[in-house]
Amino acid sequence: MCGIIGYIGKRNAVPVLLYGLQRLEYRGYDSAGIAVIEKTDKKIIVEKQVGKIKDLQEHLWNKKIEGHIGLGHTRWATHGEPTIENAHPHTSQKGTISIVHNGIIENYLELKKELLDKGYRFKSETDTEVIAHLFEDIYTGDLLDTAFEVAKKLKGAYAIGVISTYEPDRIVGIKKGSPLIIGLGKDENFIASDIPAVLEYTKDFIALDDGEIALVKRDSVEIFTTDGKKVEKNPFHVTWDVSVAEKAGYKHFMQKEIHEQPRTIGDTITGFSSSKTKNMVDTVKNADRLYIIACGTSYHAALVGKFWIEKFAKIPVEVDYASEYRYRDRIIGKNTVVLGISQSGETADTRFALLDAKKEGAKTISLVNVVGSSLSRETDHVLYTYCGPEIGVAATKTFTAQLVSLLLFALELGMKKGTISFRDYEYIHNQLLQIPSKVENILSKDDQIKEIAHRYMSASDFLFLGRNINYPIALEGALKLKEISYIHAEGYPAGEMKHGPIALIDEKMPVVCVAPKDRFYEKIFSNIQEVKARKGKVLSVATEGDSQIKQISDEVIYIPQTIDPLYPILTVIPLQMLSYHIATLLGKDVDQPRNLAKTVTVE
Ligand code: M6R
Repeated sequence: MCGIIGYIGKRNAVPVLLYGLQRLEYRGYDSAGIAVIEKTDKKIIVEKQVGKIKDLQEHLWNKKIEGHIGLGHTRWATHGEPTIENAHPHTSQKGTISIVHNGIIENYLELKKELLDKGYRFKSETDTEVIAHLFEDIYTGDLLDTAFEVAKKLKGAYAIGVISTYEPDRIVGIKKGSPLIIGLGKDENFIASDIPAVLEYTKDFIALDDGEIALVKRDSVEIFTTDGKKVEKNPFHVTWDVSVAEKAGYKHFMQKEIHEQPRTIGDTITGFSSSKTKNMVDTVKNADRLYIIACGTSYHAALVGKFWIEKFAKIPVEVDYASEYRYRDRIIGKNTVVLGISQSGETADTRFALLDAKKEGAKTISLVNVVGSSLSRETDHVLYTYCGPEIGVAATKTFTAQLVSLLLFALELGMKKGTISFRDYEYIHNQLLQIPSKVENILSKDDQIKEIAHRYMSASDFLFLGRNINYPIALEGALKLKEISYIHAEGYPAGEMKHGPIALIDEKMPVVCVAPKDRFYEKIFSNIQEVKARKGKVLSVATEGDSQIKQISDEVIYIPQTIDPLYPILTVIPLQMLSYHIATLLGKDVDQPRNLAKTVTVE
């Protein structure tokens, strides 16, 4: 939800900023811009474009801008339409201060009025422009001191980068609510919303916490609290190679990420260890109540996790959308545990709901993919998935990795509570180890799935049905399809279809049925017959060897056989592939679908 980058160092800032913006484009892509302090006359040059980073690149093609300090921004509009005026960076009236911002300034109207009364003129409709004018209005002769004062006046969530012609040897970064990391280089340093933006130049990072301000110079980085106290922070090192942020021969990041799943599932199994999870298992073991909260695809992982935790550990679990959980009258006792699932670890709804629950006395756990993310630092315990960066806006590899982590966690809990035997634990674990090669098998059906996509790409609505542990997979299949192809799709528990959605079914309606050969097979088989009896087009995801389902389906995508609880990790893969192919055949931008952003850092 907006991406920011800042550079100071020996190189020309322009290509570094553009490279970083390309890596951050998944966060927002309706307009972009850079601000650079020119090398010779020390003035701030600002260049912006509506559209994607490539439009900004083309716009900059023949411009000879050179400077060693600058800021860049890719926008996901909140206040004001995507126009050049509303694009960032925003510059103060005298042109001495430039700002990039990710987040929302909640009291901007009040601040704007004060500034208007003082004679400041606004060029944009954004909340961000007030920050630029505030810096100029308050400027004390020291950019860092000014940042302390400005931060006191701002309400809301923000990550801000500031440069000034008054002090062209420094960038100031401010974090509250939205992510901001510092990349540590040699004779150069960076600020950015996310690691991939600067992975080309460094693998060493500091993650700012809320309420921290960074003073970043070419050869030093200092961190302070907003009341001016210096903070010592431990840098962390990432082992990812820069290629994880490249398409590696695939047409889209989403396609690459779908095909990476055998590895990311394997890495998540290997990365999970009983010793690392011991404390959180102890915490949950004694819980009287476990809530799992999340948004979007992570919410669907939570729904599957509920089945596993209840089955293997016999702990009752309540799953809620984070945005709903935050504002309801939840019941939190001293043994309540809240687990937040978030790929990015930055989703505002999930973060703030967890922080609220923590304040009320709940113990908190996060399951995240991004190391050093806000959620991982704000919760009592953290569980990781090991996927490397996920760039495509549609979550794919992180979903299956979340499932693996939740399953392993449920098994650990079950062992600790004595609700499963060691034999069962080992058996399930061994079956899990075979999942990566089974995913490979499904991925090899790409041509078949593309042909099916071709036959159904013109449908205007889809229904996805599943039962029990595969019901959340139906929800996930529908979400994938609608977010990247813009086709209306709904996920339903198959047994619920007869209570309403069956009225929608006619010969034009494709119904995707998640029907593996598990203990609910007979039930969903009957539901499929009900669809067929109403002339619906049935696309089944079924287990290899199931010839019966062919007789009542228009299309069947076979997946390898596994044990009942593990099916969701397999059944979701063909649904991801189907959505991907339908969307690309329709000519949609699957990596950057309209109106969406990878990380939603506003409420
Ligand atoms: O980073 P998070 O897992 O917290 O993100 C949650 C949702 O915003 C995310 O899953 C979203 O629904 C994706 N676009 C789904 O593909």
